[in-house]
Amino acid sequence: MKQTLLILAVLAGTTVGRAQNKKTMDKNTIGQKVENLLSKMTLEEKVGQMNQYNGFWDVTGPSPKEGNAALKYEHLRKGWVGSMLTVRGVKEVKAVQKIAVEESRLGIPLIIGFDVIHGYKTLSPIPLAEAASWDMEAIQNSAKVAASEAAASGINWTFGPNVDISRDARWGRVMEGAGEDPFLGSKVAEARVKGFQGNDLASPLTIAACAKHFAAYGFAEAGRDYNTVDISNATLYNTVLPPFKTAKEAGVRTFMNSFNILNGVPATGSSFLQREILKGKWGFDGFIITDWASIREMVAHGFAKDGAEAAEKAVEAGADMDMESHLYIAELVKLVKEGKVSEKLIDDAVRRILRVKHELGLFDNPYKYCDEKREKEIIGSKANNDAVLDMAKKSIVLLKNEGNLLPLKKNGQKIALIGALAADKNSPLGSWRIASDDNTAVSVLEGMQQYKGNTLVYEKGADLTTGKTTFLDELVFNTTDRSGFEAAKSAAKNADVVVMVLGEHGFQSGEGRSRTNLDLPGLQQELLEEVYKVNPNIVLVLNNGRPLALPWAAENIPAIVEAWHLGTQAGNAVAQVLYGDYNPSGKLPMSFPRNVGQVPIYYNQHSTGRPVNSDNNVFWSHYMDVEKTPLFAFGHGLSYTTFKYGEPKLGKKVYAKGEPVKIAVNVTNTGNYDGKEVVQLYIRDIAASLSRPVKELKGFELVSLKKGETKTVTFTLTDKELGFYNNEGEYLVEPGIFKVFTGTSSDNVQEAEFELK
Ligand code: NOJ
Repeated sequence: MKQTLLILAVLAGTTVGRAQNKKTMDKNTIGQKVENLLSKMTLEEKVGQMNQYNGFWDVTGPSPKEGNAALKYEHLRKGWVGSMLTVRGVKEVKAVQKIAVEESRLGIPLIIGFDVIHGYKTLSPIPLAEAASWDMEAIQNSAKVAASEAAASGINWTFGPNVDISRDARWGRVMEGAGEDPFLGSKVAEARVKGFQGNDLASPLTIAACAKHFAAYGFAEAGRDYNTVDISNATLYNTVLPPFKTAKEAGVRTFMNSFNILNGVPATGSSFLQREILKGKWGFDGFIITDWASIREMVAHGFAKDGAEAAEKAVEAGADMDMESHLYIAELVKLVKEGKVSEKLIDDAVRRILRVKHELGLFDNPYKYCDEKREKEIIGSKANNDAVLDMAKKSIVLLKNEGNLLPLKKNGQKIALIGALAADKNSPLGSWRIASDDNTAVSVLEGMQQYKGNTLVYEKGADLTTGKTTFLDELVFNTTDRSGFEAAKSAAKNADVVVMVLGEHGFQSGEGRSRTNLDLPGLQQELLEEVYKVNPNIVLVLNNGRPLALPWAAENIPAIVEAWHLGTQAGNAVAQVLYGDYNPSGKLPMSFPRNVGQVPIYYNQHSTGRPVNSDNNVFWSHYMDVEKTPLFAFGHGLSYTTFKYGEPKLGKKVYAKGEPVKIAVNVTNTGNYDGKEVVQLYIRDIAASLSRPVKELKGFELVSLKKGETKTVTFTLTDKELGFYNNEGEYLVEPGIFKVFTGTSSDNVQEAEFELK
């Protein structure tokens, strides 16, 4: 009963007219158009709008046997397809759109979806890397560039941003998100939604965004993709949901549900997540797409006895569009006719879908995203390459720089460049890049060759992988061929500085790419140690889609540069940073562990009852074999210059509830270069009705400081930052003592204190 009322309330809420501003008028007009169309649709056509088929190539999941092309074409003609994914290119999109618009009875245009995860053809860094920039303007711009390329290729809708928070580096999909922190994750979610969607969804340069995966997919047990999720309400409300809520508030038009179960219920069948929270409490009026075949997977989860029951449960729970389960189209009409599913639920889903199609302008002109001239001009343009290069430089994190080995001198140096990844033009493109062409990245070798003042010698050392390296294949790292070691060592011996590019292949992270080891795969660690023996003057450039555990390197290698998978312009970005033409300012969005046994490791943990070794015995919360701190902490990242922080200054000691708390901190550039610094603010609610984390990020600012310059950075804390969700999902701001920390990383801060009365 409660659920029916809730559903009716949501249905009613979506049609009520509000203030008479232009947006509302547009909305009302769209609303009327949608109602008109809906009244003409047969039940089969309505269900058709809820059906999404994959295109005819580029599979991104296991395909149901029913999905042959002939059947898909037949369904398109009948108006039984509302959307297609992974159809791309003006020619191909036009071809399917033409069938939908010109051959089906009502001519309803398709909405074309695609995984635009970090760029389309011109690739920006993987999302985790972009998050490391802590530069929201740059991230928004990167999404804007990606949207413009995708839109120019006929695409209307991206399955992004991925706003999954994750604390588990074993999970390959951490490369797609913004890391471990809900505050940073929310800011990034907002920037990406705004970048993809712009101010006008109907513009042929913007596309609809999709916040995914709703919800808690990033908490797969043991980091194994698609695995069970079992988290507390505290984690759900305070860590998992905030970036989704922010995405909703930023106007995201679609959500994607997720593969995992939560409290025993698959997210796709979760009325609690989809109807109660998203469409109910949050008032989301866009539509929810399922993840790939996730309706069908509810049978494997043991939550539905067959496809029909799975379809029934999914639609009841609020999943509006079926991605590649083929179950809505097969079962829903029958379920409605049998009285098992109310047609009102179907109408609600269809209204939501049609509304977004209207907002995209597809009813005004279904071919507006299909302009060959625009496709040629925009995709791969010089401007887009410049933009992704800028983003790539901003994403690089300088982890270590002992003795100021970096930046490299530009003249008179002998440089040995070592590692298979250094010459690789494919791996830097990263995972999730279906539209880009293979081997189109600038390699580090090519980037460094631009600097002609030094002698550069390249040696591979050893192959990274032995098998195929594609989006669909397992990667094989059983290479045993050390025949290139000697040449690498001799190049190193003769060099002033050795640059080694090591890490993970681009396809080693991403969906289905979980690992139980976070080391350098293959022979790379051995190669690193061998080269170190002949010349320890090594700059290690890391390529990876997740935090790695590299204690030996952290201890022995003087300079370490985190260069992720940086996209099309990767090699240029790395070279410009190595040579000091760009001063790095990135900060880690995820903690790097000392070893995999520490995972999940994250800075905003709760205190145990025994946080320190007070009695000098073993009975405190620690490991016997390794320190409990991370190898590199959340928020860590160096610059070629140095910054000195003053203490955080508060206006007063006591604040009334609701009164803004202002904190000022002076930061001075004390080094020899102009530079940028991400000034970070954390809080701790010392005693509350629920234990609060030892630190929570609540503000940050990226500031530019000239040599010798000092700036005062001011933060304001309001109820929005000072409260938390209880286990019932209510937001509370409780009086008491708060600590405030400001500094350069989560583990390098100074503190002050105030009381909230
Ligand atoms: C499955 C993934 O989980 C999802 O993120 C993606 O958008 C779809 N496949 C479509 O490729």
